[in-house]
Amino acid sequence: MYKRPRRNRVNHAIRRMIEETSITTANLIYPMFLVDGENIKEEIASLPGNFRWSLDLLLKELEECIRLGIDKVVLFPAVKEELKDQFASYSYQKENFYLKAIFEIKKRFPNLVLMSDVAMDPYSSDGHDGLVRNGKILNDETLPVLSKMAIAQAQAGIDIIGPSDMMDGRVAHIRAALDKEGYKETLIMSYTAKYASAFYGPFRDALDSAPKSGDKKTYQMNPANKREALIEARLDEEEGADMLMVKPATCYLDVIHLLKEKSDLPITAYNVSGECAMVYAAAEKGWLDYEATMTEMLLSIRRAGADGILTYFAKDFAALQIR
Ligand code: PBG
Repeated sequence: MYKRPRRNRVNHAIRRMIEETSITTANLIYPMFLVDGENIKEEIASLPGNFRWSLDLLLKELEECIRLGIDKVVLFPAVKEELKDQFASYSYQKENFYLKAIFEIKKRFPNLVLMSDVAMDPYSSDGHDGLVRNGKILNDETLPVLSKMAIAQAQAGIDIIGPSDMMDGRVAHIRAALDKEGYKETLIMSYTAKYASAFYGPFRDALDSAPKSGDKKTYQMNPANKREALIEARLDEEEGADMLMVKPATCYLDVIHLLKEKSDLPITAYNVSGECAMVYAAAEKGWLDYEATMTEMLLSIRRAGADGILTYFAKDFAALQIR
């Protein structure tokens, strides 16, 4: 045998030199949940180690995250049921605790990049991402709501807007609205290929945002489809998205790879709540090694082609790097 692939794996120094994929904390965006009130740190039962934070405690937690090297977070509001309505009108009201919190966070940590979701579901009494009429999720009527929400978020200090609703034409609508209001530098990271996935369960527990009736299959993509992601990607590119996201990540590595090959825009992936919950649960049972498994999972998402990864593992991964 002249050819022995094992020679290139002979020791750590050699292996390290020829490593094809790398991952650092700079690639990660940390999702966190906000709740109105004071002194609140409620653990999410189906996503252990993740909490609903009130602003006072979140500020302390963010300080710790920044110390670990995290420089990008995505923030989600847990809204009280009585503030939800059919039109998600609380999402852009001046007294919205989430918008006020963003303003405070940005003031305190001006270099921390803040991302938000633009979708009606956390604010909707129907628990859907669009306006519901006679059991139908309306597309065009939803767009002005999304744009109002995006403007309110940009005004509060959000750097990256993440349209996550999968309505047609939303990126163009939001881009035009942001530009008109002068927010030309606010980025749009579009949830381009967002699938109607069962892996969002813990997230919906965290926000109490599960649909009250029906499912999201008329707007989120069918998990059976890959080529369809190209249609969404082309539209998002034309409409002015700055980055394209695939969600979930680990069951959709082929889609990440496809978009990376076909698009010139940066590709990101959302390593969603259910994917992380599986690892937490198996590790808790002693069936998997937590640190090794989560690192391998993140690495696989990078190897598939993701430039950035939204992941609940971000803080633990960051802590590993500086240990
Ligand atoms: C809301 C939204 C969801 C997630 C991110 N934004 C849930 C959904 O579409 O039902 C899921 C994220 C996760 O599971 O971690 N549009």
